[in-house]
Order: sequence, then structure tokens, then C-alpha cells
Amino acid sequence: MPDALEIAPATGKLGILTPGVGAVASTAYAGVIATRRGLAAPVGSLTQMAHMRLGRREEGRNPLIREVVPLAGLDDLVFGGWDPISPNALEAARTAGVLTSEDLAPLSSELEGIVAMPAVFDQRWVKKLDGVRVKTGTDKWDLAQQVIADIERFRVEEGCDRLVMVWCGSTEAYQEPSEVHATVESFEAGLRADDENIAPSQIYAYAALVSGVPFANGAPNLSIDLPCMQELAARNGVPITGKDFKTGQTLMKTILAPGFKARMLGMRGWYSTNILGNRDGEVLDDPENFKTKEVSKLGVLDTILQPEVYPELYGHIDHVVRINYYPPRGDNKEGWDNIDIFGWMGYPMQIKVDFLCRDSILAAPIVLDLALFLDLAQRAGQSGVQEWLSFYWKSPQPAGGVPPEHDIFIQQTKLKNTLRAWIGEEPVTHAED
Ligand SMILES: NC(=O)c1ccc[n+]([C@@H]2O[C@H](COP(=O)([O-])OP(=O)(O)OC[C@H]3O[C@@H](n4cnc5c(N)ncnc54)[C@H](O)[C@@H]3O)[C@@H](O)[C@H]2O)c1
Repeated sequence: MPDALEIAPATGKLGILTPGVGAVASTAYAGVIATRRGLAAPVGSLTQMAHMRLGRREEGRNPLIREVVPLAGLDDLVFGGWDPISPNALEAARTAGVLTSEDLAPLSSELEGIVAMPAVFDQRWVKKLDGVRVKTGTDKWDLAQQVIADIERFRVEEGCDRLVMVWCGSTEAYQEPSEVHATVESFEAGLRADDENIAPSQIYAYAALVSGVPFANGAPNLSIDLPCMQELAARNGVPITGKDFKTGQTLMKTILAPGFKARMLGMRGWYSTNILGNRDGEVLDDPENFKTKEVSKLGVLDTILQPEVYPELYGHIDHVVRINYYPPRGDNKEGWDNIDIFGWMGYPMQIKVDFLCRDSILAAPIVLDLALFLDLAQRAGQSGVQEWLSFYWKSPQPAGGVPPEHDIFIQQTKLKNTLRAWIGEEPVTHAED
């Protein structure tokens, strides 16, 4: 048996802070509150519903993850956030229209009590939104200090023992890393000089890491996948993970593509189109914001299919992704996929997938799991990029120079084997007799 890590117990309250109190965040809060009250089941959440085999098959040990891994309980969670538009989580949920008014009614006073703090917001990064509840400051350094003060105030007022931050804000315009992102020193100088390359999400990430608060990035924009943030996370001993919640179409892609590859079926093309009508769809209607998302969505197939290893099967794939803003659909997205595959002697076949999904219903349990697992990682003395959480991401951030892993089944194995190792159990490799 490997030695278990020393994991501090999950005593006291855990605060979950979300920059962005929109559809995903409000649906996540509502689901936790409803589950606490016995009004709903936390479907889609590994921390709440998944079991994990321990030991050899004949031992028959298959406990719930939360029975053997010391995770914070749902009763100990409190929520907070920042938003330039939503005044509180109830208004955000009503605007998002994900949950029915019947489902919101019993939760309304608790959701209304989650008041969004004024945001660090700059329309340059999200052209389609007009922020009204926005912080002002002398420069970006000043704004970062205001977020740090918000975090501390929340910690004290809510009596939190620990905090985690999960970015649930809009996708920011596309950006490449620049010199200001190279080191903590250059980033701090950039904050003071109001450097135009520093996006709002990076100010939250900086504030979190300076405050010792683990950070997860639910959107595809740059925030912690920057050298300065990795340096800061290592220096302050803080776990980080990203990026871009793996929900609708990309979830399907990472479920289907490993299956085609396992059977050595070839692929000639994968055309994906989406129609959605929520605020996220509106933001992504701007080409600069869509580009950020497109890069994140396109990266998935290559790493799963390995065209460099299988050029005759996967060397010539046309992979196209489109997102169209179509208001009548609201949060209930429709994602169409046309997949052109080929088999024995090169004979072509087509697969059509029409996924009528609910984006925020798929994303909400991911917010919960990431918050609980990041908190666990911190109590287990872990810091820096948490690669074992790749399972949750469209663009998983690898730790140190290796390519990311996109295959959801490998990701799941890594997640569970990491938990097994931390609690002193053998990894399950399926290699036993
Ligand atoms: N729903 C999904 O399935 C899914 C999947 C992957 C990624 N995402 C990403 O998650 C994020 C949230 O999605 P959503 O559907 O809740 O969108 P949403 O538009 O409903 O909510 C985003 C919220 O962020 C706020 N915001 C914008 N800039 C901000 C800032 N600088 N600081 C604080 N708040 C800010 C907006 O006012 C809005 O209320 C988006 O970036 C989206 O691309 C969602």
C-alpha cells in the first residue's frame, strides 16, 4: 500500500467565490441549495454521486468517493461572487432562464442573499456587455487590491475557514501571452503601469493566488495558464486548474473520438455547429470572443486521435466548429455534429449527432466538483497545476512541458488513481489476474 498523504480535515466553512454570477454560477448555487434541502439530486457530480473501486476486484470495495476522500460537505458551503450586471444570484437565475420559476421559488431567499460584488470589468474584453456594477480605481494594481480586500471581507463576514475561486465570467476576447505575463515581477509592474495586456480575469486570478485561494478557470481565456500565475501559485503553495468547462459538444467529442480510435476507424472530417441564445451565446457572437472559444474547441481531436502516429487514419481531418447566437433557444443549446468516418478498405460512413443539451445544467456540477477537489488538493498540501482535474476541461492545462490529455476515459482513470494514491490505496490498472 502506498503511504497516504496527510490531508487536513475539512472542518468549518468553505467559501466558493465566482467572478461571474450568470447562468452557470447561479445554476450551480441553486443546485447545491436544492440538494441540501432534499429537493434535488446532484446529478452529474462525481464528488456527490460517483463510486470508486478500491483494491482488487474480489475485495468488492466500491465506496462513494465522498465516503473515503475527506471532501467538504454541501452543508458547509457558502457562495459569493462578482458581476458587472447581475445584482444577485436570484436575478441572475431569472435572467438566465435555466431553472423554472417553480424550482426557483423555494430557493429564492437564499439566492437573493448571494449579492454580487462590483466587478473588475473592461468592455474592451467583452464588447457585447455593458457593465453597470463596476469597480473604479487609479490603476489595475488598485483594482487588484480591491479584489484582495473583497476576498478578505468575505472570508471574515461569512466565517470561512477556506476559500476557492472558480471563474464563471464571460469569455474574454482572444489574446496571446505577452511580456507582462512572463514573471510575477513583470505582471506586478504591469498592474501598476495599467498594462493593456492585463485582462480582468487575470486580476481576479492574481488576487486569488496572492490571498492563497485556489483558482479554476471555467472559460477559455488566458488567466492562470500564464508563466507569472504558475510562478505565483508555486510561490504561495496554491493549486490551480483550467480551462473551459467541458460540457456539451466537446464532452460528446471526447466520449466518441476515443471509441473510434480504439476500433482503428479512420476519420475524414468533423463538422460541429451550435445554436444557442443565452448571454454566453451573445458574447461569443463577437468574432474576438468566439476566437478564444474556437481555439479551445479545436484542440481536442488532435490529441485524442494522434494524427502523427496514425497519418493514414487521422492525417487529413477537416475539423470545423461554428457557434451561432440564436435567441429563441436561450440556454437550451442545440449542437449538431456531422462526423465523416471510414472503415475497412476505406469505405466511408457518416454519423450525425444532434445534442439538445442544457449548457448550464451540464456545467453546474463541474463548478461544485472543481471547488471541492481544489479545496481537497490544498488541504493535501498540493500546489500548482492539478493535472488530475483534466477530466473537467476542454483545454486541460498540463503540468510541465507534456501535451494535454483529452481522452475522457484516461482523464477519469487519472482522477480516480490520484484520489486512491492520496488516501493510501493502490492504483487500479486492470492488470491483475
Ligand atoms: N455553460 C457551459 O456549458 C459552459 C461551458 C464552457 C465554458 N463556459 C463558460 O463559462 C462562462 C459562464 O457561462 P454562462 O453561461 O454562465 O455565461 P453568462 O453570460 O450567463 O454569465 C457570465 C457572467 O459573467 C459576467 N461577467 C462578465 N465579465 C465579468 C468580469 N470581468 N467580472 C465578473 N463578472 C463578469 C457577466 O455579466 C455574466 O453575468 C462563460 O465564459 C462560458 O463561455 C460555459
